[in-house]
Amino acid sequence: DQIEKAGYPHFMLKEIFDQPNSLRNGMRGRIYNRQDKPDSWQIKLGGLEKALEAPEREGKSAIDIMASARRLIICACGTSWHSGLIAKYVLENLAKIPVEVEYASEFRYRNPVIGKDDVIIAISQSGETADTLEAIKMAKKNNAITVGIVNVVGSSIARETDAGIYLHAGPEIGVASTKAFTGQVIALLMVALRLATERGVMSDEVLDSYCEALNALPDKLESWFKDLNDQIKVISKYFRLASNALFSGCGIHFPVALEGALKLKEISYIHAEGFPAAEIRHGALTLIRNFVPVVCIAMKSDPAYEQVKAQISEFRAKDAAVIVLTDQENNDFNGIASFVIRCPATKLELEPLIVAIPLQLLSYYIADERGCSIDQPRNLAKSVTVE
Ligand code: G6P
Repeated sequence: DQIEKAGYPHFMLKEIFDQPNSLRNGMRGRIYNRQDKPDSWQIKLGGLEKALEAPEREGKSAIDIMASARRLIICACGTSWHSGLIAKYVLENLAKIPVEVEYASEFRYRNPVIGKDDVIIAISQSGETADTLEAIKMAKKNNAITVGIVNVVGSSIARETDAGIYLHAGPEIGVASTKAFTGQVIALLMVALRLATERGVMSDEVLDSYCEALNALPDKLESWFKDLNDQIKVISKYFRLASNALFSGCGIHFPVALEGALKLKEISYIHAEGFPAAEIRHGALTLIRNFVPVVCIAMKSDPAYEQVKAQISEFRAKDAAVIVLTDQENNDFNGIASFVIRCPATKLELEPLIVAIPLQLLSYYIADERGCSIDQPRNLAKSVTVE
């Protein structure tokens, strides 16, 4: 156990710190220089490029079918559902394909309209979540194409789907998912970029700029970790006794806010909710008062940044303890937020890969301060194989 933890007190912390490497592994062999233009980049995702077995698909690959699909439907549970929400944003933004994101447990128990022109994408770390597996089986019965974005090689979902790609994030032991989450986000980003070029909606220059940003990301995270870790340890001490916490984020960061809240709930047993920033006005504003921690993602890339900024001042006026995650050079929150976490710059669609990390560390250190059983929180299982 101690050897496997490689000196870390918990698997979760080890897995958080593993992310620069797990992300490198997820990209390895998939983003590479073009032969005809050595300064340019290309993405190939082996598991999605080969001809599908079903004869009626006439030798087409999953990429061919996804590129011409009228919509993609993502099914997942828990943290994987959050990476699905990020993927929706990225696929619609970059590849211009409509995407629906469903809780697998809801999808399988209603009568969704699915047919042979639909593609169902299952996202699952374990590849064994019963509801996600059943959603796939139902989609197959309706002749849809199924694609798996899975970490565990040879798992049930990996075997059941028509095509798929592995995350190559390595084993994830901590019940609260961390490196599998970022692995899913990066895998789906590569799918979105691959589909964008296949559909001819992205120029080579723009693709190059995304590939360069992806390639630079692991080193960026690595050099940020030490300072970030020290800062989060300090912040966590203040929130040891909180009983409620709110997380807000807009656009691509709304799912990151949901994920931050889920992480905190899972391992520290503090009640937490995530919101799109503006929605707080429709209810949760009643909870904002003295000392309630409010974690606000306020990146300048956000089209609603000015509104978010105004809202943060409002939270401050109500004496909430505001923790702002923002861009490296941004001083807009000095003297307003209780803590400002500065995130290294990248492209908008890659920001969740950066912003999620301080939230993972925050939940880890708060849970540690509270003496919780971090790797095995009460009542939760790493993989929910019961229905
Ligand atoms: C459980 C785990 C979560 C995970 C969810 C979905 O609830 O505790 O961490 O996100 O299942 O699991 P999957 O393996 O399908 O991603």
